[in-house]
Amino acid sequence: MKINESPYQCHIFVCTKTRDGIRRSCGDHDNGGLKAALKQEIKDRGWKSRVRVSDSGCLGLCDEGPNVLIHPQKIWLSAVTSEDIPDIIQTIEKLLES
Ligand code: FES
Repeated sequence: MKINESPYQCHIFVCTKTRDGIRRSCGDHDNGGLKAALKQEIKDRGWKSRVRVSDSGCLGLCDEGPNVLIHPQKIWLSAVTSEDIPDIIQTIEKLLES
């Protein structure tokens, strides 16, 4: 195993786990759309080399979802909708400036 330092200042994990209605999950919502919109915002701002947006499997707090985790800053966002994207981008911007 080789241990590397993350090349990203922020890694945004968007839980897209689905369970086909068996149990509540973040994928019950339009998280694919949320992830795509976040990716576009990051690209539009020229942050692609510093910020990565990825799908995530279950993060463990399914009842509070949709969940988004910003790593390594330990910022956990719950009940996220597309309307929250401007606030998320503003949060990322502050992290990149710090
Ligand atoms: S399904 Fe998203 S946190 Fe569990």
